[in-house]
Amino acid sequence: MVQENENIDQGTSYEQYAPGNYLIRLRNNETIDFNPFNQYLMLAKQLTGLLYTRPELQASFPNIFQDPTLPVVMEIGCYMGYTVLELAGRNPDLNILGVDIKYKRVVKSCNKIKRASLRNAAIAIGDARELLTIISDRSLFGILAFFPDPWRRQKHEKHRFLDDHFFETAANKLTAKGFIWIKTDSKPYVDEVTAKAKKHGFIITEGLSPDRGRPLIGEDHRTFFEQLFTNMQQPIYQLFIIKSF
Ligand SMILES: C[S@@+](CC[C@H](N)C(=O)[O-])C[C@H]1O[C@@H](n2cnc3c(N)ncnc32)[C@H](O)[C@@H]1O
Repeated sequence: MVQENENIDQGTSYEQYAPGNYLIRLRNNETIDFNPFNQYLMLAKQLTGLLYTRPELQASFPNIFQDPTLPVVMEIGCYMGYTVLELAGRNPDLNILGVDIKYKRVVKSCNKIKRASLRNAAIAIGDARELLTIISDRSLFGILAFFPDPWRRQKHEKHRFLDDHFFETAANKLTAKGFIWIKTDSKPYVDEVTAKAKKHGFIITEGLSPDRGRPLIGEDHRTFFEQLFTNMQQPIYQLFIIKSF
């Protein structure tokens, strides 16, 4: 069930503040010139050890987790952290890294992890395309991208996240037999992504979870956007992609 509808972020986007990298500067106690009423940016400042900026992730991944030897699954566009919570709670043998670009969303995600005292979950703020590139090669067991793009029209195709560059990067960052799990409400997007994945040497499978003896996500778990689309009677498409090389 959807518990929070906090879809409206007012002026809290990472893009807006990224040029000066406000969060890092805040953590260094610098005086900075930005809207001081952005409460989520101020809250984000306090979430050290749970919320990672790009340089922090680059310096410390995978030692950001209590047991850095566990395989890591990255959820791109983790929104308010509902799925990170589910994944980390159900899979103590995995580390879960949620990534989102909005301050409010990463703060909410971190708060959920904190409340649940999960030691196998962390959140990074930034553009996942960028964050993916700074993680060491062959260090991710899985990448999840659930309803990654808000753009549905054809004219927005060039902004789509799961492009050639994504698959090139994913090929380097995933371990052998690593996986990418995609959910979307757009059939053309599924077709486009399937073609791109194959072009980059990935295999498309029928299964929807890696073989770990149980599903990664509970059968009753729906992501926030999955629930929205389901409520609107929209079909949901899933793609499970394996790195076979
Ligand atoms: C449509 S929502 C889907 C949220 C969630 N995965 C779900 O299924 O409910 C897309 C999410 O991706 C995030 N996002 C968009 N572009 C991103 C990017 N380049 N890097 C990281 N997160 C991004 C948005 O802030 C938003 O939380």
